[in-house]
This record gives sequence, structure tokens and C-alpha cells, in this order.
Amino acid sequence: MLELMQHNIRLNEVESRASALVLNWGEPLPEAVVRQRPNVVLAAECVYFEPAFPLLMQTLKDLFALNDEAAVYFCFKKRRRADMQFVKMARKAFAVDDMFDEDRPVFSRQALFLFRFRSKTAASGEANGASWIHES
Ligand SMILES: C[S@@+](CC[C@H](N)C(=O)[O-])C[C@H]1O[C@@H](n2cnc3c(N)ncnc32)[C@H](O)[C@@H]1O
Repeated sequence: MLELMQHNIRLNEVESRASALVLNWGEPLPEAVVRQRPNVVLAAECVYFEPAFPLLMQTLKDLFALNDEAAVYFCFKKRRRADMQFVKMARKAFAVDDMFDEDRPVFSRQALFLFRFRSKTAASGEANGASWIHES
């Protein structure tokens, strides 16, 4: 997968702006991630294997510990009931928003979900008037 990602970066000619690296869930974050403190995290189709849920949760918590203002956009197709267990765990640990847009009815019919996770402290700050994200 790493080689494929590197290949895609070359194909799209974005070497100056993108790099591929391995991030094993549940393991300490790579030094490059710690240095960058990502503020946007995209996670697609990551809830198909229940034993890995706690590892993924740990990694998401580590990312929020690095950057309290990060947003994790988390999407998946619900294939089994257990998939929603991850969202349940996430709701306990993070502020979780359902994302809506004009394609939502189509996605819903296909059991596709998209959530935004944020740290509870950042989300409560926003509720108190401190806005950090601007959406068009
Ligand atoms: C179904 S694929 C989705 C890949 C890609 N996000 C997409 O939507 O096409 C699931 C991804 O979860 C990753 N994954 C599964 N277990 C993992 C783990 N323990 N640590 C890191 N990544 C893991 C796999 O490497 C794989 O890239």
C-alpha cells in the first residue's frame, strides 16, 4: 500500500506537497506526524475489523492530544451492526457530528456514513463562542 501511495503521489505530481508514510494504529505516532500536528484527518473505510477498534481509537486520541483543534472526517459503509459500535465508542470520547450535504439522501440509501470527530474541549469552546472552523 505504501508503494501504491508513493506511486499515486508521483502520478499526480504532488511530491512537493504530499508524502506517504505508515501509521500503525495503536502504535506511537511517527515523528513526522508529531512534528506536523495535522489539523485535518481523513479516514475512509476503517471500521471493518472489530479487534482493531481500540487501536484506531487510541490513534485518534493521540492525534487529538497533538492538536486539540483537529477535525477527523470519518466515513464508512455500514456492512454489519458492529460497525456502529465504533461510532458509539467515538461518541463517548469525542464530539461527533453527522455531516449533511445535498448528496446525503443518496449516501444514506447506500448505508454510507460521514461523521466529523472533534475533541470535546474544542467543541465546547466553539459552543461558548470561540469559533475555529469556517465552512462555506
Ligand atoms: C478498507 S481499507 C480502506 C483504504 C482507504 N482508506 C480507502 O478508502 O480506499 C482499510 C484501511 O485500514 C488500514 N488498517 C487496517 N488495520 C490497520 C492498523 N492496525 N493500523 C493501520 N492501518 C490499518 C488498512 O491498511 C487499509 O488501508
